[in-house]
Amino acid sequence: MRVFRCLVCGDPYLGKNKPTNCPFCGAHQNLFVLVHEYKENKDLSTEKSRANLEQALEIEISNAQFYRAAMEIGDDEPTKQMFRALAKVEAEHGSTICKWLKVDKPAALSETGTANDTALANVEESKKREERASGFYTQAAGEAMEKGVAWFFRALAEVERDHLELDKQAVARLTIMG
Ligand SMILES: [Fe+2]
Ligand SMILES: [Fe+2]
Repeated sequence: MRVFRCLVCGDPYLGKNKPTNCPFCGAHQNLFVLVHEYKENKDLSTEKSRANLEQALEIEISNAQFYRAAMEIGDDEPTKQMFRALAKVEAEHGSTICKWLKVDKPAALSETGTANDTALANVEESKKREERASGFYTQAAGEAMEKGVAWFFRALAEVERDHLELDKQAVARLTIMG
């Protein structure tokens, strides 16, 4: 057993090996290091990156709230559990962004929003939300002058693209069932 640390969210992970994805933020395996190798780099020096991180926080708050509502809708347990996991991951993204911005976690990050009446409609909305998030993070990575910010946004964009993949699987499953 060893202690690893995620370079994206900073959370520690106990395991024999690195996880394939961070259980907290979803970052990929290559973004884990042994705990003593961890170096903090939260250099944020431009207004543009600050504004992009603030917008990213809004996106994560909105998505976490949506998933918290969506996890209660319908009777397809796999979809509900998927939304439950997504709610946690997006909230983790939000709190990580707060560390970059050096602000307290807003209460809104733990609140529940509104969702649609059916699981399928929620999965379709999730696709749009994940597309928007990954698109914005890719753009923000390109705009960042700070290496660390660019790297962080690229890691987030990867995670949101993974979520889009989950949505596609869920649509296929729900369509067959319906
Ligand atoms: Fe992480
Ligand atoms: Fe996210």
